[in-house]
Amino acid sequence: MIISSKIRLRDKRLADALDDYMWRTDAELARLDAAPLLTTTFSRYLSDYADELRYSIRHRFAVETLDGKHIGNCSYYSIDEAKDEAELGIMIGNRDYWDKGYGTDTVTTLVNYIFHQTKLKRIYLKTLDSNIRAQKCFQKCGFTPYGHMVRDGFSFTLMEINRKQWQEQQTET
Ligand SMILES: CC(C)(COP(=O)(O)OP(=O)(O)OC[C@H]1O[C@@H](n2cnc3c(N)ncnc32)[C@H](O)[C@@H]1OP(=O)(O)O)[C@@H](O)C(=O)NCCC(=O)NCCS
Repeated sequence: MIISSKIRLRDKRLADALDDYMWRTDAELARLDAAPLLTTTFSRYLSDYADELRYSIRHRFAVETLDGKHIGNCSYYSIDEAKDEAELGIMIGNRDYWDKGYGTDTVTTLVNYIFHQTKLKRIYLKTLDSNIRAQKCFQKCGFTPYGHMVRDGFSFTLMEINRKQWQEQQTET
């Protein structure tokens, strides 16, 4: 369990399945994430869920409020040990918690965790060019844009933070 000022990050568990299913079948969330909308039934989703938790090579965390409400998920993945880098992902699925600093606190907490607990030197992410909320959130966490990419007809802004930048930010605060 990783605790911060607004949120805590904990390991994913089977009881998260219904929230995750609701978020994966939400058309607006899928659009914001440029992800395919899940169309399977909940019972089929649930039957694969335990395996996904057990065997996924993603480092996945549930995002909870300090009073224990599950509001989203975050992760880091695609770890490249030669380049010492990984990709970061986040989704605050519960709309009641948008634009209140939960995303910023989550990303800052995960970045701090990664740079403290691993030897990774660079964390990068991609978000749709049109997703200004996400870009603003990532900028507040110290990420800077470094390029653009088009994939499957979607246009993404690429952002990154490296260990040196992160260390400099630690001494500034
Ligand atoms: C993207 C996401 C992680 C951001 O988390 P959040 O808790 O909503 O964001 P925060 O409140 O920490 O920061 C958002 C900032 O963007 C600002 N913002 C929101 N919409 C904006 C807009 N259209 N134009 C300019 N600024 C905007 C907010 O005011 C806030 O800035 P402030 O703190 O200076 O006021 C979260 O909203 C989310 O998961 N959304 C749904 C899925 C999604 O977008 N997925 C893609 C992730 S790559």
